[in-house]
Amino acid sequence: MTVLSVASELYPLIKTGGLADVAGALPAALAEQGIAVRSLLPGYPAVLRQMQDAEPVLDLGTIFGGLARLLAGRAAGLDLFVIEAPHLYGREGNPYAGPDGDWPDNPQRFAALAQVAARIGQGALPGFRPDIVHAHDWQAGLVPAYLHYSGAPRPGTVFTVHNLAFQGQCDASLLAELGLPGEAWSIHGVEYYGAIGFLKAGLKLADRITTVSPTYAAEIRTEEGGMGLAGLLRDRAAELSGILNGIDTAVWNPANDPNLPSPFSVADLRARENSRRALRDHFGLQDDPEALTVGVVSRLSWQKGMDALLAAMPALIDLNMRLVVLGTGDRAIENGLEAAAGMHPGRIGLHLGYDEGLAHLIQGGADALLVPSRFEPCGLTQLCALRYGAVPVVARVGGLADTVIDANEMAVAAGCATGVQFAAATPDALVAALRRLASLWRDRAAWTLIQSNAMHSDVSWNRPAAHYATLYREILSGR
Ligand code: ADP
Ligand code: GLC
Repeated sequence: MTVLSVASELYPLIKTGGLADVAGALPAALAEQGIAVRSLLPGYPAVLRQMQDAEPVLDLGTIFGGLARLLAGRAAGLDLFVIEAPHLYGREGNPYAGPDGDWPDNPQRFAALAQVAARIGQGALPGFRPDIVHAHDWQAGLVPAYLHYSGAPRPGTVFTVHNLAFQGQCDASLLAELGLPGEAWSIHGVEYYGAIGFLKAGLKLADRITTVSPTYAAEIRTEEGGMGLAGLLRDRAAELSGILNGIDTAVWNPANDPNLPSPFSVADLRARENSRRALRDHFGLQDDPEALTVGVVSRLSWQKGMDALLAAMPALIDLNMRLVVLGTGDRAIENGLEAAAGMHPGRIGLHLGYDEGLAHLIQGGADALLVPSRFEPCGLTQLCALRYGAVPVVARVGGLADTVIDANEMAVAAGCATGVQFAAATPDALVAALRRLASLWRDRAAWTLIQSNAMHSDVSWNRPAAHYATLYREILSGR
């Protein structure tokens, strides 16, 4: 079976969030299932620079006012198709935004991505005709639409939503320019509250929809979690499923991680001390063997519950905890964290920015990792935390609910707890969770068991990839 995966970012070539991690890691995991994946990606400068042996394989003609061609090549161990279209993608930095915010031609930029995917899907490339086209998030939302309206034989389509909050809408007047037929202008097509909805199109017109955890798949069918799309998703409940993400266990491997001062594993947890010390030194934290260090690696946004963290800060300090935060995002949250760090030197460490190496050191050196999200389709940092023995403390939403086993009394007695869950990202619930964490920390036997269970959790792509393989096969057998 062959699959064309279509996403607007892909680790390690270009990344703004977990979507890139997923798009970058799933192909290798699917290869283990006997599925050959090629990934289609816009030709941002960072991508073109990293491609090896790129060769043109298809002249795409003029797309949205400029010439484009399709390159094939490899980068970071992945088989890629890349759209070379400098007028659309030849911009450095963030793939979606420039200095003045979102690029105004994002509708055209990502319609182009979808058009090229549809052309490949319909056999434009001699020698590569995918059985399934798997499109991710709003940037690839028009892929199922172009294939649906083409009227020609087409491959099966899967659309995966990684975050319902980003919906990709544009003005209805662009319908013809984007190459969508008149019949697409309907509630059964791409129309979404009077605009063209890229995410809506993907959710409506793909053969199957997935999201990145079973709990999120349920949450998005409720008015509260559906962000305007609950009705559609309820209508399509039979074709909607949740498949958890994994992480790349080669990239995230504490036994062989160049960002840690020394390797460690569940069999040799004493060596983790070196990472704890290195983290403490990095942030200039006071050395107190009784103090528990909580880490945060996150976009600093409302979704991630970072305002609740700010509100819980005094309690965290009262509990004699240390906090290290790595993140970037909303200015107000950044300012709040800066003020807190200024007030509590030696207790709160802050790095505003994006730093992969430091993310690894926090996972390897913090005692616990806090993820107080308001909603979380899956979340990857808690998976890294499980693998690195930073006990995850998470809000009970989305994929956080599905990946962490709460250390309630029964789970501790049964010996299966892997972390702490709390009801929701409110300051009160967060403070209660921190108190619970502090008492588990005092009970070293319980703590060590939780940490060891966490590190034994299977956070690899093996199970999820098998689920995707089954889904693809179901689509093909149903056609
Ligand atoms: P989301 O995609 O919603 O931001 P995820 O948890 O799915 O959340 O994925 C976030 C990814 O980005 C993880 O791989 C995490 O380690 C990484 N990350 C987030 N913020 C930073 C940062 N400031 N520096 C380095 N890595 C980060
Ligand atoms: C989105 C979600 C996050 C998820 C990631 C990868 O960015 O916010 O929860 O882990 O996509 O699927």
